[in-house]
This record gives sequence, C-alpha cells and structure tokens, in this order.
Amino acid sequence: MSDSNRKILVTSALPYANGSIHLGHLLEHIQTDIWTRFQKLRGHECYSVCADDAHGTPVMLKAQELGITPEEMVARTQAEHSQDLQDFGIVYDNYHNTHSDENKALCEMVYLRAKERGYITQRTISQLFDPDKNMFLPDRFVKGTCPKCKSEDQNGDSCDNCGATYSPTELINPKSVVSGAEPILKDSEHYFFDLPKFESSLQEWLTSSSVQPEIANKLQEWFEQGLQQWDISRDAPYFGFEIPDAPNKYFYVWVDAPVGYMASFKHFCEKNGVDFDSFWQADSDAEVYHFIGKDITYFHCLFWPAMLEGAGLRKPTGVNVHGFVTVNGAKMSKSKGTFIKARTYLEHLNPELLRYFFASKLSDGVTDIDLNFEDFVQKVNSDLVGKVVNIASRCAGFISKRFEGKLSANVAEPELLQSFIDESENIAEAFEKRQYSKAIREIMTLADKANQYIDAQAPWVTIKEEDKQQHTHDVCSLGINMFKILMTYLKPVLPELAVKAEGFLNTELNWSNVASPLKEHDINKFKALMQRVDFKAVEAMIDASKEDLQATANKLDPNSPLAKDPIAETIQFDDFAKVDLRVARINKAEHVEGADKLLRFELDLGGETRQVFAGIKSAYQPEDLIGKHTVMVANLAPRKMRFGMSEGMVLAAGPGGKDLWILEPHDGAQPGMKVK
Ligand code: MSP
Ligand code: ZN
Repeated sequence: MSDSNRKILVTSALPYANGSIHLGHLLEHIQTDIWTRFQKLRGHECYSVCADDAHGTPVMLKAQELGITPEEMVARTQAEHSQDLQDFGIVYDNYHNTHSDENKALCEMVYLRAKERGYITQRTISQLFDPDKNMFLPDRFVKGTCPKCKSEDQNGDSCDNCGATYSPTELINPKSVVSGAEPILKDSEHYFFDLPKFESSLQEWLTSSSVQPEIANKLQEWFEQGLQQWDISRDAPYFGFEIPDAPNKYFYVWVDAPVGYMASFKHFCEKNGVDFDSFWQADSDAEVYHFIGKDITYFHCLFWPAMLEGAGLRKPTGVNVHGFVTVNGAKMSKSKGTFIKARTYLEHLNPELLRYFFASKLSDGVTDIDLNFEDFVQKVNSDLVGKVVNIASRCAGFISKRFEGKLSANVAEPELLQSFIDESENIAEAFEKRQYSKAIREIMTLADKANQYIDAQAPWVTIKEEDKQQHTHDVCSLGINMFKILMTYLKPVLPELAVKAEGFLNTELNWSNVASPLKEHDINKFKALMQRVDFKAVEAMIDASKEDLQATANKLDPNSPLAKDPIAETIQFDDFAKVDLRVARINKAEHVEGADKLLRFELDLGGETRQVFAGIKSAYQPEDLIGKHTVMVANLAPRKMRFGMSEGMVLAAGPGGKDLWILEPHDGAQPGMKVK
C-alpha cells in the first residue's frame, strides 16, 4: 500500500430511530470502526459518518404510541444511540439524523435531477387503506388469515406457518395492525423511479467496484429476474420529506435514508471546512465505502447506485456486506435473553472484549457470525489477558524495580524483533481487506512467539544472577518492544487498551513507528491493563436481557395507559410549583369555524375571564360543557393561534378522539381556587 494520500469516506447503515442498538448493530459498527481507525492510523484522510434513520411509518406510529412528536423521539433516540456507540469506542466524525435540512436539500436535488432526466414516472395504484386511521398501510401493518394454509394472524406479505408469500390483498379477513379495522382498497397516485433504465450502468459498476463474489452472484440473479420500477412515494400521513411539487406525497424512507449518508457528511464538511463535492462529484478520486448487513443489499447495490447515477454523482467504490449475528448458534432471541442491547452489555462487560471477539471472527465474507459465550469468555481471557497483556506484565516489573524504569540500549535478538516488524504489511493487508480474523491470527501467533521467548529466557531466574543483569535488562526490554508492536497492530481493534498501553509505554503507537524499537526510553509503572472475565458476568447480562423483555412486556400491556404513555422524567418540586393550576368555570363553549379539532371557551377564574382554545371537539358537544367547573393552567404564556389568542390550557385525560375527558372538580370548588 504505497498510495499514501488516499481520501476515504466510510459509512455504516443508519439504525432506525425506533429501537435500541443491539449486538447485531454492534457487529457492523465495530467492523466499520476498526476499518476507519486502521485507515487513520495508516495516515490516510479518512472520514466516517452515520446517522439515525428517522423517517417512515414505524417511527411515526411509535412516536404516536409514546405520545410525543416524531422529531422528539428521533432526538431522544439519536442521543441514546450515539452514547451507546461512543461507549463501545465507536467513533464517527459525524452522527446525524435523516430529518435534517441538509438531507432535505440533497434529496430534492437527487430527485429533481432524476426527474429532469426523465427517470421519474407516475401512475395510480391501489393499496390497502385503514379507514379508521385514515392512512395507507405498509405490508407489515396488515395481518390476517393465510390464503394458502388458512392459519390465522399472519403477516401481510408472508405466512410464518407455511412459508407462502402473497400480496396483502390476498389475505383472508385482513385487519389493520394499527386500529384493528378491516382495510379497504384505495387508489392513489404514486411516483416511480425507473430502475430498469439503469441496468447496463449497474452491470458496469458491478464489474468495476469491489463487491464480494456472493453479492455479485445475488445481483446477477436480480438482473436475470428483471429490474422493476421502484415506488418512491408514500401518502400522508407519513413522517418524511414532501416530494417537490407533489403535495401530500412523501419520499419513501429508503429514498432519503442513503442520501442521509451524504447529508451527514455534508453537515460535517460544513463545520470542518472539508470539500464535500470533491467526494461526491462524478469524477471524484475519493473512495466511498458503505458497510451494511446482507438484508439491505438490494437497496445499496441497485437502488442507491442508480439514484446516484440518475443525479449525475459518483457511485460507491465498494459496498461491504456482512452476515448476521447469531448467539450460541441461534437467532438472537428475546425469550432466551440473547437479544442483548448495547446498554445491557455495557452494564456487565468490557466493550473492548466484544470488539476483539467480533474482530477475531470477521472475514470479508457474508457468512453469519456466531457469538458463543463460552467461546467468547475463553478467547478473550486466553488471548488478551493470557497472551498480550501478559507479555508486558512479565517484563515491566523488572524494568521499573531494577533498571530505573528505563529500557535497554540494546536489542537482545534483532532477528526476533525483525520478525515482528516484518509482519507489518501482512497484517495491514488483512485489515485493509477486512480479513480481521486473519489479522488477529497473525497477531496472536506473534504473541505466542513473544511468550515463548520470555519463557525460555526466564528473566525471573536470571535477575538473581549477578553476571546476567545486562542480559535480563535486554530480554525484558525486548519483551516490552514486542508488546509495543503487538499493541500497535491491535490499536484499531482495542483503542482503549491501546491508550492505556501508550500511557505505560510513554509513547504514541503508530504504524509508522513499528520498525523503531524504544531504546534507553523511560516507561511508566505497569498497572493491570485488563481483567479476566468471569462467566458469571455473561449470565448476569443474559438474565438482565430477560428482565428487559419482562419490563417491555409489562409496559406494553395494552390495557394500561402507562404502556402508551410512560411516566415522564422525574421533576423537582420547584418545577411543579411553577405550574399554576386553577379551578375555572366554563362560561361559554362553542365551535370554531374552520377548525376540525378545537372548541373555544370563555373561562371564569373568579374575577378574570380567559379565552382558551382546546382540542376536544371530537369528545364533547360544546353546549354540554357550559356551566361546568374544570381545571386549567392559568399561568401559561398566551399563544397566538389561527383563530385568536389562547390564554391558558384546559386539562383533559385520555388517548384522544372520542376518548377524552376534561377534569371536573367536585362541587364546592370555586372558580379561581388553586389546585395543589
Ligand atoms: N435503517 C435501515 C438502514 C438504512 S441505511 C441507508 C436499517 N436499519 S436497521 O436498524 O434495521 O439495521 C441497521 C444495520 O444493522 C443494517 O446493516 C442491518 O443489516 C444491521 N443488523 C441488524 N440486525 C443485525 C444482526 N442481527 N446481525 C448483524 N447485523 C444486523 O436497515
Ligand atoms: Zn400459510
């Protein structure tokens, strides 16, 4: 690799903003992070970006369920995701979300350019529609009886019982998952991206880019089946970006999600003065790599390069596809406690151990990766604690106690040291090609060699012999220098251990220093760099994951309002005391012309009258409310609404629609009384 000034942009797939990061996601982020850190360590100009995937129906419905805006949910999830990733030592130059200004502008650009070039068509299609919720239903939001085997409660696109696939319109007795209503068929105009027009340029991209052979085969199959027009629009209500000049039509989430890679990078470039266009223009000499799981290959290897081509932009240099994580040989399972969230792992185990374990398993292929916990504990204890750290701990004490913390000026066995240096390019090549397991194997072979050398020299024996002092000093110094090289090779995988090793070695670990041993160099006192793992910690983590499940199940009891609306963050008494709640008498209540949800009230506060608009029209006839006492927030800043000023807020409980109840204090409460 003599190409010294490479410009590289790396991405990981954008996690959906409606769930937590789990072990499956972590495989991908760890794979990406190791590669990015390696490129940076080699001195290349390399950036990595990610983001939360904010849009789409599941995110929208989840936010509704929680009673918050989708924007708020995305903000919360983004904060949680980026903290989780950071705590695993996974560093992105930027972690954004797709509901951003940059993304909106870039999506519009990509779409309008495709439209100008004639790649967008329109036609009317018929789809299942939830008449209660007033929304079109994605396939996975329809359930019913399988048309083939008649088993009940099957998904809209496939049957878990007999494996049949079908269209949701073929289901018997279909029900909307959202409301339980029977869906009806409804026409709507959709926008399509003309994928078939890109067949030859996709074929060409496939031969010129670095796509794994398994993936290239898969793509050939898709070409043989024939490419289809891609439906890129969704009807309101949809959390997404509106399509230009198409009111109430939104970009399907898979349009703006990959553009989100560019948007996150743009956000970064603008803050850091990096030239965005030089990475994305058609003739760019920068490299762009996407790390993804095998389930989203179609989107990244067909739609995305075609969209880029349609917009006159460059295509990815490579799409790096990985397999799925299984735990103890099976799919991650909530009931077995093997569906483990990033946070749950962090509460029980050292994140670097997972980074190491995944690295020791990852290749450039797309086979699944099994996390067998016995194997995990055995491997991290034996390799990291037993081999690598052991080298330093066996030599460091003598250097500090007997040689004033200074390494020798001599290299005891230059050939041995040279054999460590000579592996540098092999190991680098393995990292470059994402053959991490190969890199780890080579590093561990060297670690074995270092330990054998120390065993044979037995410095703990020679240190007692008067005439072997210099020799012992040289042997231990060589041990420390071998440790230094191994930790440099492991630095992309174990960044935190590397920082500790740098502190101990009193030097920065860099690929370019591998060939320069430390001589007559002061090192610091050795402190334990890593602890052995006890299998009990793994068991505790699995138990906690089962409890997570229990907690979620409890929360999701559909009969409990707490399930839909969890209790908010604890506040202090002072926060509460700021809210001035008062009894108010409803003097007047009336419809508001042009408003579908609001009623207008005149509320008597016992000496002061307030006009308040409240969204409870669906639940009450205004005349039924006149004369009643209710509770209002009296010190809320007045808000200008379309229909006039609202000077306070009426309190009501319930999920909404017809089910809303205003609070009614018992008789005896007088207008103006404080509620405390
Ligand atoms: N939001 C889309 C990606 C948009 S990219 C423009 C998405 N999100 S996801 O949260 O479902 O998945 C994010 C990544 O995690 C994907 O690459 C997916 O393959 C990966 N994984 C999710 N579960 C996984 C495992 N169990 N094992 C390994 N990777 C898995 O798809
Ligand atoms: Zn069936």
